[in-house]
Amino acid sequence: MYKILLKQDLVPGIHLFKVAAPAVAKKAQAGQFVVVRIDERGERIPLTIADWDEKEGNITIVFMEVGTTTARLALLEAGDAIADFVGPLGVPAHIEKFGTVVCVAGGVGTAVVAPIARALKDAGNRIISVLGARSQDLLFWEDRLGSVSERLIVTTDDGSYGRKGVVTEPLKELLESGEKVDRVVAIGPAIMMKFCSLTTQPFGIKTIVSLNPIMVDGTGMCGCCRVSVGGETKFACVDGPDFDGHQVDWDLLFARQRIYLDEEKCSFEQWQKSHSGLR
Ligand SMILES: Cc1cc2nc3c(=O)[nH]c(=O)nc-3n(C[C@H](O)[C@H](O)[C@H](O)COP(=O)(O)OP(=O)(O)OC[C@H]3O[C@@H](n4cnc5c(N)ncnc54)[C@H](O)[C@@H]3O)c2cc1C
Ligand code: FES
Repeated sequence: MYKILLKQDLVPGIHLFKVAAPAVAKKAQAGQFVVVRIDERGERIPLTIADWDEKEGNITIVFMEVGTTTARLALLEAGDAIADFVGPLGVPAHIEKFGTVVCVAGGVGTAVVAPIARALKDAGNRIISVLGARSQDLLFWEDRLGSVSERLIVTTDDGSYGRKGVVTEPLKELLESGEKVDRVVAIGPAIMMKFCSLTTQPFGIKTIVSLNPIMVDGTGMCGCCRVSVGGETKFACVDGPDFDGHQVDWDLLFARQRIYLDEEKCSFEQWQKSHSGLR
């Protein structure tokens, strides 16, 4: 069992757990993930390693409540334990000195971008970050991303904080301004990653995205996380999750993400009915 050492409610519906997992912490690298199963009857879900402490032997995960398993996870508190916590999985993010890297983070994707931005900064890159959320009350880790960025632009869809609008607008302006950008890392909802990739494509700037198809085993055996990149079939869990955003077949990803929508909705409604008194 993996004990939850700390729980923080970062913003409504997004929570942070620090979990005791020394073996995972020993090998974790930016861009990797764990597969979590709450108990022996639970489903397995992938969550990114948002931070880790090798000495203390713990891993930080940040998750958004979107369905049954993440809502169940949100009911756990510090002192509770998780049955399975498998990792680190996936190919680590490609870190080297590229020059200037623009890191674009959307929503809960901020937790995925933060360790990558830090590793890129440690490798000698100059980091410019764009952080977006629907509104001010859903923004988190502005300080964490800001601390590794030479410049941080914050956007909210409703204009409640920072600049009103979506992340692609400052990204496009930055590229049009003649700023020399050597690489873009864009991580957030799939639709955001698609539009960031479309924004950078005319400028020919390599854009890395982190794909989030449905995963089951996380080790390349079930085929569930199949995506198409550059016309080739890839498994996001072992070939990714990071890929070249200009090569991704986004329509296939969107379609495969929706495969179990009816079942997910039904499961969540049943769970909400049976747990309505618990919150
Ligand atoms: C490599 C990777 C890293 C991820 N990291 C994070 C993270 O750090 N924080 C975070 O909040 N979310 C992350 N996700 C997404 C997270 O796994 C899903 O939100 C979670 O599985 C939803 O489970 P659920 O039962 O609560 O919701 P469900 O009702 O099952 O699904 C709700 C939504 O989540 C998607 N989803 C469902 N099951 C999976 C699955 N097994 N794998 C991927 N997506 C699924 C569905 O397409 C649907 O859109 C990551 C996904 C991947 C592939
Ligand atoms: S999750 Fe099974 S092959 Fe990737």
